[in-house]
Amino acid sequence: MASKKAGTKKKAAPDAIALLKQDHEKVRTLLGQLENATGPRRQKLLGQIETELKVHTTIEEEIFYPAYHQAARKKEDKKLFFEAIQEHHVVDLVMPEMNDGASPEELKARAKVLKDLVEHHADEEEKEMFPRARKVMERDELRSLGEMMLRRKEDLMA
Ligand SMILES: [Fe+2]
Ligand SMILES: [Fe+2]
Repeated sequence: MASKKAGTKKKAAPDAIALLKQDHEKVRTLLGQLENATGPRRQKLLGQIETELKVHTTIEEEIFYPAYHQAARKKEDKKLFFEAIQEHHVVDLVMPEMNDGASPEELKARAKVLKDLVEHHADEEEKEMFPRARKVMERDELRSLGEMMLRRKEDLMA
């Protein structure tokens, strides 16, 4: 069909929350694989996880969280913002230690703790912050934040 120009039409960006959830799924999968991985495979997975987390937490902290914080009126909603930032900080602290540890048992324990930390944080976002964000933010705003984050993500990945 003449009107259908494959590849020229820009793909519609997912809304902010859908985009962040996609990232969470990806990281959950990688963290699940990390626990039993050893040697070069472990190194590769760790590198991927580190990149994914860095990009994801950056777009949240630069774009999504400030918009959420601004839209939030209730004390409880604002509290979720401050807790989320602190949890990112804890992950940042733990990440550089992922290769410390003399034994395979220690490395495995570190992978388990990282997984628990990240999963707890992502679950809280999905069960608490994101539903609140849907309440306090307009659909259009979530859509344009999604577009901004997608663009920023592409920059950061490049
Ligand atoms: Fe987060
Ligand atoms: Fe997140």
